Amino acid sequence: MQRFSFQPIGVIHSRHHVAAQTPIQPVYAADFPGTVEVFPAFAAGLRDLDGYSHIYLLYVLDRAGEPRLAVKPFLQDVERGVFATRAPCRPNPIGMSIVPLLRVEGNILHVGALDILDGTPLLDIKPYSRRFDCLTETRNGWQDEVDEAQARIRGRRDCPPASPAMPEG
Ligand SMILES: C[S@@+](CC[C@H](N)C(=O)[O-])C[C@H]1O[C@@H](n2cnc3c(N)ncnc32)[C@H](O)[C@@H]1O
Repeated sequence: MQRFSFQPIGVIHSRHHVAAQTPIQPVYAADFPGTVEVFPAFAAGLRDLDGYSHIYLLYVLDRAGEPRLAVKPFLQDVERGVFATRAPCRPNPIGMSIVPLLRVEGNILHVGALDILDGTPLLDIKPYSRRFDCLTETRNGWQDEVDEAQARIRGRRDCPPASPAMPEG
């Protein structure tokens, strides 16, 4: 098969340094803002991004374990096919998070709700579009079996609440 190689366009800076203490999705990480540093060579591509409230970050899960095709997801103790989960240990360890875009300062994006480890290599940014991306009628696979209150607890993993004294990003 043809191989592909990508170069990082930037790096994600967050308050998360321990995988097991990092929320599993932005929806459980509201108190964790951070910054996305886009390398100067790519900064011209940020023009007009500030009109969007949310963006997709696509990144390399560079500290994921060995790929596995069957995993127990964070929200349930039942083995599932990796492609039916968001588990990091995938054949191609690509992460995807929809995060609020708070403001743009040159090549630095201030974002909210990070579920991403500090220093993670950034592959791409795409705008979240209500027109394209907001689906209201969906089936949610095994996740429909998970109680929402339990999901909120498990979704935080062992992440302590953010200290209000810490500066943004
Ligand atoms: C379940 S994954 C979901 C990531 C992304 N929102 C997605 O859906 O692709 C989130 C977990 O990935 C782990 N993680 C975050 N950044 C990582 C990195 N750079 N390398 C390996 N694991 C990472 C953290 O432990 C976090 O709890």
